[in-house]
Amino acid sequence: MADKMIKTIAVLTSGGDAPGMNAAIRGVVRKALTNGMKVMGIEKGYQGLLNGEIHEMTSKDVSDSIQKGGTILRTARSEEFATEEGKIKGAEILKSKGIDAVVVIGGDGSYKGALGLSHHGIAVVGIPGTIDLDIACTDYTIGFDTAINTAMDAIDKVRDTSSSHERCSIVEVMGRHAGYIALWCGVASGAEEILLPESYDYDEQHIINHIIEAKKIGKTHFLIVNAEGIGHSTSLARRIEAATGMETRATILGYMQRGGSPTCKDRFYATIMGAYAADLLRDGKFNRVVCHMNGEFCDYDIDEALAMKKSIPPYLEEVARSMSR
Ligand code: F6P
Repeated sequence: MADKMIKTIAVLTSGGDAPGMNAAIRGVVRKALTNGMKVMGIEKGYQGLLNGEIHEMTSKDVSDSIQKGGTILRTARSEEFATEEGKIKGAEILKSKGIDAVVVIGGDGSYKGALGLSHHGIAVVGIPGTIDLDIACTDYTIGFDTAINTAMDAIDKVRDTSSSHERCSIVEVMGRHAGYIALWCGVASGAEEILLPESYDYDEQHIINHIIEAKKIGKTHFLIVNAEGIGHSTSLARRIEAATGMETRATILGYMQRGGSPTCKDRFYATIMGAYAADLLRDGKFNRVVCHMNGEFCDYDIDEALAMKKSIPPYLEEVARSMSR
């Protein structure tokens, strides 16, 4: 496939939406048009592909979108596409419409779908789009910056009322498998405890002792940032209140973290990544994922990228702990 000249590409967003996805779509569309390619938009991710929800995109179609949250192409999770038959059907639909390549904006799961298409003769490029920051080959994912700022603002507000009422507050942030949102927001909002799915040991007595010690040194409120992957914030609040005597409330931020107008950083990085994906295809570089590592935009082989592992550096957790003493 390496010598294949790409004439028509498609772009889709898949999995959970993330603020900045529109900037990435716009980057793909406008750079591909500049490169002389025809661009198609696939609605509702891989499910839309299987349903044939595909239309041509012009420069005008991405006007007035860079500042908007969500994804103008909409998104979905598809069980049908997860099967081998689904991937074969998807590749056939693309070929029948003359589409040589697909740019997939999403997380690891979406990359796996793209890899499947590549096995059936479609050139693919992945762009990291998830608020969770949990893609190993890149230190930046589209939407993380907006999500942490949205969550931090919300936590600051909870902190105001927690402080007025001399309460303990547990704020649950998104991240089913990854604690990056909790870690960043926890540090940035001065949380006393940050619970991460990667390292939480369910030692509630430790948290209770921490609150009792904090009260002794004059702290009148206590903030716990909990990750969705740990969950159970409301029942944890009840147990903490019973054990410490400190009124405790839980706030679950939920989907508000996935919406909203993207930050400048998300708009900028997503634009560059979208354009970079279109240029990879122009240059005959297929089955790659666009990344940002060590201050540079770069790309990796999709297989290699999927095999990489990522974890929260222990030093960051150590610093977070020392800030709460
Ligand atoms: O997109 C990432 C994420 O927001 C996770 O933090 C969360 O666990 C998951 O998506 C929720 O997805 P759904 O939209 O399927 O509820």
